[in-house]
Amino acid sequence: MTVYSRRSFLARSVAATIGVGVHLSHPGRAMGGWFGWWKKTDVTGESLAVGPLSGFAEGKWTSVQIGKIAPSGKDVTGLKILVWRQGPKAYAMSSRCTHRGCRVEVRTDGTFRCPCHGAQFDSAGRVTRGPATEPLTWYATRITDSGVVVVETASEIEPPSGLSAK
Ligand code: FES
Repeated sequence: MTVYSRRSFLARSVAATIGVGVHLSHPGRAMGGWFGWWKKTDVTGESLAVGPLSGFAEGKWTSVQIGKIAPSGKDVTGLKILVWRQGPKAYAMSSRCTHRGCRVEVRTDGTFRCPCHGAQFDSAGRVTRGPATEPLTWYATRITDSGVVVVETASEIEPPSGLSAK
């Protein structure tokens, strides 16, 4: 995966600025689906430190609850990013449904379903059932020297290939 680094970023200071809680996503468990949080949550352009790579389970999605304040000072309460660890790399996808912004659920087969109006997405985030018409958004990531995964929400990428579930 191509890793983009659009700006200087000190993981330690960011980690101290935003609180991050990591919640393992068990397949089939709902991650919730409500509208309001996304409307006040514009993370475009944020560099979000989501935790140490070693803290993510290999070969499965982990839903990361971002804390209150992003580096820019925006309130990102309620934002969740899906992170997938594959060996020394991490991949990130928005859990925001592209229909009206509800949070998608991870299903047991690695696909996604939106609880609000039933849109479905394959394991790469492509729409398999409407009403959504646009795929889920993948973000570039990078790993800091201290091993922290940073999600670059300004850099959208194509779905990576070769992710294998464990
Ligand atoms: S918000 Fe997801 S299907 Fe409508």
